[in-house]
Amino acid sequence: MKILVSDKLSAKGLEILQKERAGLEVAVKTGLTPAELVKEMPPYQGLIVRSSTKVTAEIIAAADNLKIIGRAGIGVDNINLEAATMRGIIVMNAPEGNAITTAEHTISLMLALSRKIPQATSSIKGKKWEKGKFMGVEVFNKTLGIIGLGRIGRLVAQRAQGLGMVTIAYDPYISSDMAQSLGAPLVGFDELLARSDYITVHTPKTNETAYLLGKKEFEKMKKGVRIINCARGGIIDEKALYEAMVSGKVAGAALDVFEQEPPGDNPLIELDAVICTPHLGAATEEAQDNVAIEIAQQMISFFKHGEVKNAVNLPSMNAELYARMGPYITLAEKLGGLEAQLLEGGLKEVKINYYGEIAELETRYLTASLLKGLLEHFIKERINLVNSAIIAKERGIKVTETILSQTENYSSLIRLEAITDKETGSVAGTLYGRRDARLVEINNIPLEAILSGHMLVFYNQDMPGVIGKIGTILGNNKINIAGMNLGRKTIGGMATALVSVDAEIPESVLAEIRAWPIILYAKKIKL
Ligand code: NAD
Ligand code: MLT
Repeated sequence: MKILVSDKLSAKGLEILQKERAGLEVAVKTGLTPAELVKEMPPYQGLIVRSSTKVTAEIIAAADNLKIIGRAGIGVDNINLEAATMRGIIVMNAPEGNAITTAEHTISLMLALSRKIPQATSSIKGKKWEKGKFMGVEVFNKTLGIIGLGRIGRLVAQRAQGLGMVTIAYDPYISSDMAQSLGAPLVGFDELLARSDYITVHTPKTNETAYLLGKKEFEKMKKGVRIINCARGGIIDEKALYEAMVSGKVAGAALDVFEQEPPGDNPLIELDAVICTPHLGAATEEAQDNVAIEIAQQMISFFKHGEVKNAVNLPSMNAELYARMGPYITLAEKLGGLEAQLLEGGLKEVKINYYGEIAELETRYLTASLLKGLLEHFIKERINLVNSAIIAKERGIKVTETILSQTENYSSLIRLEAITDKETGSVAGTLYGRRDARLVEINNIPLEAILSGHMLVFYNQDMPGVIGKIGTILGNNKINIAGMNLGRKTIGGMATALVSVDAEIPESVLAEIRAWPIILYAKKIKL
């Protein structure tokens, strides 16, 4: 497997990737222009970036063999997630490794802002001794409003509490019990704005958080509030912050991130009460080692064991869950593949029922796998677990998933019903033992079969001689039968059979079978 590392990655991460047992061929090419990267991408299956490489739709379109993009860090806003997902490329990040470092940077900036340390340093370096000019404020007993109480927000809360600050938080996606237990009770957004002496943001930048702090919000704040942003530029409207500072509403701001990086000529950073760092939130030796090691290990797990961790466009699975889910993922894909080949017409709707123990597992994965098996017979695009649900949605195929705890006759069962513009069909399957994928039903007729290789599926009126005749036709055409599985609902009623064969059945042989009046339907299948 070929991996391209297109940004500077710590040596510890590179060592892990390059060690012999990992079996990966790693190329480190940093500083490539977008056009150079487009040319470079085709042979690589994996790409590792930090924040410098902008993984655009053009780069993704050129990456014919790319399976996974690893971001050594948290924010994936330098990666076109939509384009990657549509092409079935997994995007994963390394969310743990730099959280402490970034929380420490936030606290450092808050203290430096309060005691005007950068300004005082410049003054001394300018050979001055302006003792009276840099009067500061204590953080002790002050209220810190934390917007976004995720990994970093929590670490900031903990550290601020150690400094004797009162912490409050706004985060619509965590429970108030959780926030309470972190010592940062949830308050409404406006209340946080009104009560805080310091406000720090720790959300990702999304459509919802872009310009979360703008003119209106600054108006609602306490006079003399101080603002810290170690999350993403653009969560704070820089023009509105500039105006709020000039008006005296905001006493100071500490910014590690900017709407445009580098910020260039920006009047905001000319202000005396603004202190800045050039996106250094994660810039410690420890954090850079951590994220590089994290992403290198995740890449190796993916290419060696198919294990996906910290994917942002696919539910994550640890090795233990993967071991449990793997056989069901295979079963789901095979059921989808079988149904796709049995059906005629354009696919309109898919109904999936999960019964029994399987319902406790991550069924989104199973649905994605089933849709992959189903859609790859209808759609000539690269389809995998990452994009199958999106492609189904985009094609107007309605997908419903029902989870039922009762188990019918099996400890776990997946039943798929697919509706096309011509017909409706269904298949159901289970695992025998822990790994053995079995079909147990076609169109509500019980029938047990192993789902693998070349097969013939046919329907007939239940009567003597049918199996013999099919065997003769296949035998005359030198097609060896590996197994035969029969099913019927009632004696003399509709019967079905799945015949496993050792080679593909030619169209001419299929035509011979279909020509026999007793055969109501015959299809060849390859799984
Ligand atoms: P996280 O996902 O653990 O936490 C984000 C939190 O924001 C979540 O709890 C979420 O519920 C909350 N949130 C989402 N939308 C919100 C909204 N509209 N209002 C309030 N809260 C909202 O992420 P994290 O690891 O804590 O990282 C937070 C941010 O910090 C990310 O944007 C990341 O890129 C950035 N970051 C910056 C640096 C740096 O170098 N400056 C380093 C690391 C991380
Ligand atoms: C991140 O999202 O991890 C940080 O912004 C750090 C970085 O970009 O290097």
